[in-house]
Amino acid sequence: MINSKEVITELQDMRDEGHLSDALLRRAVRKIKGSDDRFNWVGVYLLNQEKAELWLHNYMGTPTEHARIPVGTGVCGTAVAEKANQNVPDVTQVDNYLACSRDVKSELVVLIRAGDDIFGQIDVDSEHAAAFTEEDEAAVSAVADKLAEQLAAERR
Ligand code: SME
Repeated sequence: MINSKEVITELQDMRDEGHLSDALLRRAVRKIKGSDDRFNWVGVYLLNQEKAELWLHNYMGTPTEHARIPVGTGVCGTAVAEKANQNVPDVTQVDNYLACSRDVKSELVVLIRAGDDIFGQIDVDSEHAAAFTEEDEAAVSAVADKLAEQLAAERR
């Protein structure tokens, strides 16, 4: 289980020390990946508005072919197109699913956003079916909100 309070405090400490989003996004991935054995792949994609694509920023887990994902494609692209987090208990049920590895059974995508303004997303894959609870989504979402704070500050 992710201790989101602890992660958020750590991310705020980094901000106070002057670290920018690049470092925070990497730390968030590392903390989430290490928090639960069921989280086999964790990464952050950032939205490239101009190209309408998600670009992989950093990840932990097996290398993926999907470094750039068009908005609307796969679980990741659907999250942006629908402006909604995706908790997919069984990835075989998703029509346009983009397989990162054949072992992945369930996937959680949480948007990094400030209201309707979407910066990107945290993507978590699991080799266990239906791995992600509402608590997991809420915890990842709390971390995503902290990352959005920094990304919004850098955009100003
Ligand atoms: N499964 C995702 C693609 C990203 S990889 O899993 C790392 C999707 O369907 O969008």
